[in-house]
Order: sequence, then C-alpha cells, then structure tokens
Amino acid sequence: MHASHPSLRRVGVVAVVVLVTGALFTPPSNAGSAPGIVRESFGATAEGPVHRYTLTNGKGMRVRILTYGGIIQTIEVPDRRGRTTNVALGFDNLTDYVERNPYFGCITGRYANRIALGRFTLDGVTYQLPINNAPNSLHGGDVGFDKHIWATSPFRRDGNVGLVMRYTSPHLDQGYPGTLTTTVTYTLTRGNAIRMEYRATTDRPTVVNLTNHTYFNLAGEGSGSIENHTLQLDASRYTPVDPTLIPTGSLDPVAGTPMDFTRPTAIGERIRDDFTQLVIGRGFDHNYVLDRRHRTGLQRAARVVEPRSGRVLTILTEEPGIQFYSGNFLDGTLVGTSGRMYRQGDGFALETQHFPDSPNQAAFPSTVLRPGETYRTTTIYQFGTTR
Ligand code: BGC
Repeated sequence: MHASHPSLRRVGVVAVVVLVTGALFTPPSNAGSAPGIVRESFGATAEGPVHRYTLTNGKGMRVRILTYGGIIQTIEVPDRRGRTTNVALGFDNLTDYVERNPYFGCITGRYANRIALGRFTLDGVTYQLPINNAPNSLHGGDVGFDKHIWATSPFRRDGNVGLVMRYTSPHLDQGYPGTLTTTVTYTLTRGNAIRMEYRATTDRPTVVNLTNHTYFNLAGEGSGSIENHTLQLDASRYTPVDPTLIPTGSLDPVAGTPMDFTRPTAIGERIRDDFTQLVIGRGFDHNYVLDRRHRTGLQRAARVVEPRSGRVLTILTEEPGIQFYSGNFLDGTLVGTSGRMYRQGDGFALETQHFPDSPNQAAFPSTVLRPGETYRTTTIYQFGTTR
C-alpha cells in the first residue's frame, strides 16, 4: 500500500464534504435544483453491502444506480409538458435483481451477447465458458459483471454528477483468460444525458465486449407495450442469426425487409411479419451494423420517440454495432419497480456493442484485448422531447 500524499488526502476530504453538503441541500424535487448525489444502503449480497446512488442534475432528471452490477435502476425524465416518470424497467428490491434479473439496467460483460457453444480460441488456446443460454454462453456467463458489487466513487464536475465504478475480474473468471481491470464511468450531465465510459486492461490476451443493458419504455416503466414507439437505427445492414441466435457471419441489407429502421418506424408495425429472422428472435433480437461516417468517434446509432409523451431517446456510440431487443422473453412473471408486471414487448433494449460471437468470426471487428492496450469506448443516452 502506498501512503497517499497529505495534500492529496486533504483534497479527498474536501471533495467528500462538498458531495455530502450537496446531498444535504438537494431538495426532493429533481427539477430546478442543484445537482446532487445521495448514497443509501440497498441491502447486501454474499459479496458484501450494496449501495444505491441517486443522481440528480437539477435539470429534471434523476437516475438511481446500484453498486450491484452497476445497475441503472431508474431513469426519471420529463415529458413534453415537464411531467417526470421513470422510463427504465427494473425492480424495487435487491433480491429480484440477484435471483431473476433478465439483465435490467446492468453493466454486461465480460462479453455482452452470445459466444457460440461458449467456446473460442485465442493464440492457439481454446477457452470454455459457461453455457448459460443453451447451447451458447450469454452476457459473460453464469456470474457476469452484472452480478458483482462494483467499487464506486461519486464525483461532481462542471455541473455534472457521476460515479466511477471499478471491478477486477480474475484470470479464468467464467473461463475468460486474463485479469481484467474494468472501470465504467457514469455521468448524468446537465444536458439530460447519461454518458457511459468504459475502460479495461488485461494482463493476458483476452476478449472483451461491454455494454449497458437498460430496458426502456419511454411512456413509463410498467405502462404497457412499446410497440407504438418509433425507432430509427442508423444501420443499413444487420447480422442475421441461426436458430440459436448466433450470427451466420453475413451482413445482410435491411432494405426491403421488416428489419429496416433506417426511417422512423413504429416498433410494432412489422414485428408480426412472417419473416424468418423475426420468427427466430420471437421479435427483434438482432445486432445492427452501424453506418459509420467515421471509423472512430461518437456517432448517432438510434433515435426513439414515444409519441404520446413526446419523450425522445437518442443513443450515440463509438461501437460498431447495436443489439435491438424488443423484450421478447418478458412473459408476465416479473413485477417491476412500480408494482406492475412486465409482459412481452413492455420494454426494449438497445445495446451498443461489438458484434455477437466476434471471437469466432474472423471477418467481424475484433474484440481481442492484449496486455499494454486499453479498451476504451463511450456510449451516451441523450434524453429530450419532441412536439
Ligand atoms: C439478448 C436476448 C436476451 C436478453 C436478456 C439480450 O441482449 O439479445 O436474447 O433474451 O438480452 O437476456
């Protein structure tokens, strides 16, 4: 252990006082007030105590994040008339998150999405991962990044509030090689955006693909179907899948198919079309290949509008793909935050990511991370309204 420099220690103490002061003076309303951060206990798992942070930006948004799984529990945003509701699906208690969470809100890793047969070969060595979505491995295995407690430090910067979350996954955790040290920085901006910055380093060659798995309903969590939301995806191709939801390897054009969201289209408009990919996915459960104007940098990937409330979600990312999942496996067995149950299509996820099964698909953008390199990627959920 290095002893911290006395002046650095002092800065740390001052920062904590500022945060606590901010928290004490944060009024319960989330509009027209100073930005704030409040921490409270949210129970415990076998790994230790869990906390919940409430971030308010003073501009109408309030976001709750758990140290367990880095889960975004709630996102409260105003509609076109300034009425605020929670647009993220989730639970009001830790037990449901631990025992039955279909990845609501969580940091998903080490490898978001599927790896065929839970197996891949890197530098001549074959690794076997848990088969938790037979016959494949899904979202990092049985105990992925969504099921650990993340070391969390709050910060305030330039009128924004946020959390730095850290987790170190040991070599061969869930079968993946390399000690992976991951940092996810969530920032709630004064511009009504949630910015997510992911960083990871490894001590051995490995694969990594991180995302956030929030399910949205812009009319309000628990308010019913998302089929009336219009979706636009900046993607003219997608990766069709086999019956186990593993990409076949081809990048097919969306043009002329119900997969086409290049123009704003209601999610429900073609979801029941007799199209093989929709039958396989029981709706939309597909990775879209983003039309990148530049190889790097943040670009718009998706825009979703809920017509009655006027709420708009725009997603920007540095990733090459986005998984559009129309909540097909919600089946009325989960009761959400507001006490209402979730049925099929009551929420959707848009998961920015590298393509599924990339470790087994040489033609897909690489997900390999080597010692000395830093995995860096940023995604933004930007909220707004339309008339
Ligand atoms: C997958 C779905 C899966 C869902 C919840 C999505 O990322 O594409 O197939 O059911 O996560 O696990």
